Amino acid sequence: MPELKPEQRVRDILVTSALPYANGSLHLGHLLEQVQTDIWVRFQKSRGHNCTYVCADDAHGTAIMLIAEQLGISPEQQIEQMHAEHLRDSNDFLIGFDNFHSTHTEENRFFSEQIYTRLRDNGHIVQREITQAFDPERQLFLSDRYIKGSCPRCKTADQYGDNCEACGATYSPADLIDPVSVLSGAAPIEKKSVHYFFTLPAFTEMLREWTNSGTLQTQIANKLKEWLDAGLKEWDISRDTPYFGFEIPDAPGKYFYVWLDAPIGYMASHKNLCERDGVDFDSYWSTDSKAELYHFIGKDIINFHGLFWPAILSSADYRTPTAIYTHGFLTVNGTKMSKSRGTFIKARTYLEHLDAEYLRYYFAAKLNGSVDDIDLNLEDFVQRVNSDVVGKVVNIASRCAGFLRKQFDNTLTESCAEEALLADFIAAGDGIAELYEQREFGKAIREIIALADRANQYIDEKKPWVLAKQEGAEAEVHAVCSMGINLFRVLMVYLKPVLPAMAEKSEAFLQGGLDWDQRLQPLQGHRIAKFKPLMTRIETQQVEAVVAASREEQAQAESAKAPVEETSVEENKPVSNIIEYDDFAKVELRIAEIIAAEPVQGADKLLQLTLNLGDSQRQVFAGIKEAYPDPARLVGKLTVCVANLAPRKMRFGVSEGMVLAAGPGGSDIYLLEPHPGATPGMRVK
Ligand code: MSP
Ligand code: ZN
Repeated sequence: MPELKPEQRVRDILVTSALPYANGSLHLGHLLEQVQTDIWVRFQKSRGHNCTYVCADDAHGTAIMLIAEQLGISPEQQIEQMHAEHLRDSNDFLIGFDNFHSTHTEENRFFSEQIYTRLRDNGHIVQREITQAFDPERQLFLSDRYIKGSCPRCKTADQYGDNCEACGATYSPADLIDPVSVLSGAAPIEKKSVHYFFTLPAFTEMLREWTNSGTLQTQIANKLKEWLDAGLKEWDISRDTPYFGFEIPDAPGKYFYVWLDAPIGYMASHKNLCERDGVDFDSYWSTDSKAELYHFIGKDIINFHGLFWPAILSSADYRTPTAIYTHGFLTVNGTKMSKSRGTFIKARTYLEHLDAEYLRYYFAAKLNGSVDDIDLNLEDFVQRVNSDVVGKVVNIASRCAGFLRKQFDNTLTESCAEEALLADFIAAGDGIAELYEQREFGKAIREIIALADRANQYIDEKKPWVLAKQEGAEAEVHAVCSMGINLFRVLMVYLKPVLPAMAEKSEAFLQGGLDWDQRLQPLQGHRIAKFKPLMTRIETQQVEAVVAASREEQAQAESAKAPVEETSVEENKPVSNIIEYDDFAKVELRIAEIIAAEPVQGADKLLQLTLNLGDSQRQVFAGIKEAYPDPARLVGKLTVCVANLAPRKMRFGVSEGMVLAAGPGGSDIYLLEPHPGATPGMRVK
């Protein structure tokens, strides 16, 4: 722990959130992390510390390369668009980055090369020849996630190369039965290549010490200890061309693996900010730095931040993090976010229907310093925000403001009526600060709302609305309402890290700032501004609209899915291939008669098919040419077509559906054909 009583000296604190992948939109899981980090940062700033919050997009890797290819744009264009989108989403959630950079930048290239060179010169890089699966059609090496086949244990088909969704077995892709490349459908071949490895085992002692230094959550320290006890392995930091990333300086055709330059992106983003604002970068990153460095991350990326990153920093002669703050995963209504249930909610979809501060408040109320998952229960969400923020906190101000305006020209009394009560509110700030510091936001919120209850109780007892009708009670109305406003003000100081926009409106209303120490000076004889609504209630329909919109987005994404050979999978992340029945039911399969089949000029694998669906004709491009070198033989045959697939623009024209075929790919692929009796247009069930 950093020493408490931090208000006694100004701390230099550098904070990061994990860098979101530039291969997809931000969702509420990402926002859980950014909101947690942002609240902590805003709290530190409110306390007067010199706290800097940097982040960036994680722009490299195979997934991004393939997505760009699929969209027909360059990876640079893809990451530029994503950067703008991510930044807009985070801004609209009031995430106050001091800098949001990218890993595909000159700063990051510089540090990646510099750090790699230092590791190499220290003897911490070794070359090893490894054998890997290779897609002979696409001419690229396949990571486990890009290979599918039948599980060697339970024989379930269509399992990824490293584990089985059905029986949970883990294995290597070489063990799969009939493996195919997810990218081309071709059977992978084995190919040798030289890779560069970081000698992680050399850092076992260093890491033992670092993980034991008391700066990690117990659960995390235990996990790391387990890994250390089991023995560390060398870490593969290179990938072969084609790859979207930085080429390794002394190894043409080899690239830094995305996870090597990703954490270095923290430094690059900070460096970019330092250059812009004239800040001394070295005072944060040198081994003798007095600054604090914190990384907020999710529990899925602990190994990178708790093992590789500190080891690399130490070899490259940079300081190591003060602490890694790990959070659990976001669940919605008690289960993993589900696309079919409409609970896989993108940041933008939420923002189209709901205010960012509702979610910030709810997350704060649920967050703590542990690694436990956090549940967004949508009913509880509505109830909690309405009752706490609107019903309790805002209520204090709105109950008092009217009387002050009508009878007292918006001016507060010269002294405080209930000094003891106000003193209690102010004194509670020390405990609340400690809770914020330890990321026990839920406990902090509980204390704040307990104070709000006391403030409401005070007003209920004094009943200014009754006093206002009594003769001679004018001074008391003034005193009670002035007191109410001062209590409200202290509460808003405590809530400002969570509700920055509402705090800003409150500052305008109160005509004064809401930083942590400003609560020590009550507002006396002070003129406030006209009260304007600070937050409105959530309507259940707004939440329903988010769920409906998320479900709809999912349906559209499904129908726009690219053909097999162009699907892509997020690197490093387990992806479930189980779909809900509802998703399956959306697929409209129909019997189609092939009325024309022709090769496509300039495409080795495609046939252009014209299909008769009974009531209409369709043009479809299918990657089956190698299997049907004489396409004329297909004319007159019946097959099965996905009839409600959104049309897709391909290089050679628009494809208006998909035909179904079986087999690993290449020449080994077979169109499905119905039994006699089926006629064009029939629905397949
Ligand atoms: N690009 C890497 C991080 C590199 S950091 C040097 C990555 N990106 S990510 O987009 O997949 O995830 C970014 C962060 O969001 C991670 O900390 C991850 O744990 C977090 N989350 C992603 N989904 C999440 C939930 N459903 N719930 C909470 N956090 C989640 O990993
Ligand atoms: Zn299995």
